[in-house]
Order: sequence, then structure tokens, then C-alpha cells
Amino acid sequence: MDALLDAALRARENAHAPFSQFRVGAALEDETGRLHGGCNIENATYGLTICAERVAVFKAVSEGARKFRRVAVAADTDQLTPPCGACRQILWEFCGDVELILVNLKGKTETFRLKDLFPRPFDASFL
Ligand code: THU
Repeated sequence: MDALLDAALRARENAHAPFSQFRVGAALEDETGRLHGGCNIENATYGLTICAERVAVFKAVSEGARKFRRVAVAADTDQLTPPCGACRQILWEFCGDVELILVNLKGKTETFRLKDLFPRPFDASFL
């Protein structure tokens, strides 16, 4: 399997989702080929929960990565799970119109460009 998809599926194993039981993993491939994983981390206050995608992005950025080739999101759903709206905004900020691959535990995949899931984004070009 593609190492990026494998990284997203492995990151999902670390999900902390005691409230929803909905476990998500994400992984980013940076411009050097390094992989950065993340999982969703829930909180008893619910609103402080953070999605797998944002954990992966923030981990990568905090490690100095700035350019990304591909993103993968893994969940255990037949209809593949896409990033939420908040995560699309954060992905756009750091990854631009990146290739985004959704995957489930059966190995089903779908590939998108972020622009197709997040048309007409607001970003620093307006500032
Ligand atoms: N979640 C993610 O981590 N990423 C997504 O793309 C969709 C939703 C998490 C947030 C929460 O912990 C759980 O899934 C249910 O919404």
C-alpha cells in the first residue's frame, strides 16, 4: 500500500475518541517525502476536540515542514470521510490546492484536489 495511506491508517490507531467512537487518521507528505501523521483527539468539553487533519498539519508545521505534496484521511466508513469545513480551511492555508486522498479500512480510496472540496477559499491573498 501507498506509504501515505498506511501512515493515515496507522495514525488512526492512536485516535482518542471516547465520546464519538469515530476514529480518524490523517497524514501529510511534505516536499522532502517525509510523512506527518495525526489523529482526532476529543475532549470532555466536546468543543475542544480537534480533528485528525488539523493535528497532522500542526504537527508538521511545528516540525518545520512548509510545503506539502499530498494529504490522506482515513476512517472506517463505506462512504469515505472527507475533512470538515474547519479542516478544509486549515489545509488550504498550509497546503493550497493539494492532492487529497480518502481511504477506509477496506482499502477503498478516492482522490480529489482540495479546490474541488473547498471552492472560493478565503486566504492571505485578500489581506
Ligand atoms: N473528525 C476528524 O477527525 N476528521 C474529520 O474529517 C471528520 C471528523 C473527528 C472529530 C470528532 O472527534 C469525530 O471525528 C466525530 O466528529
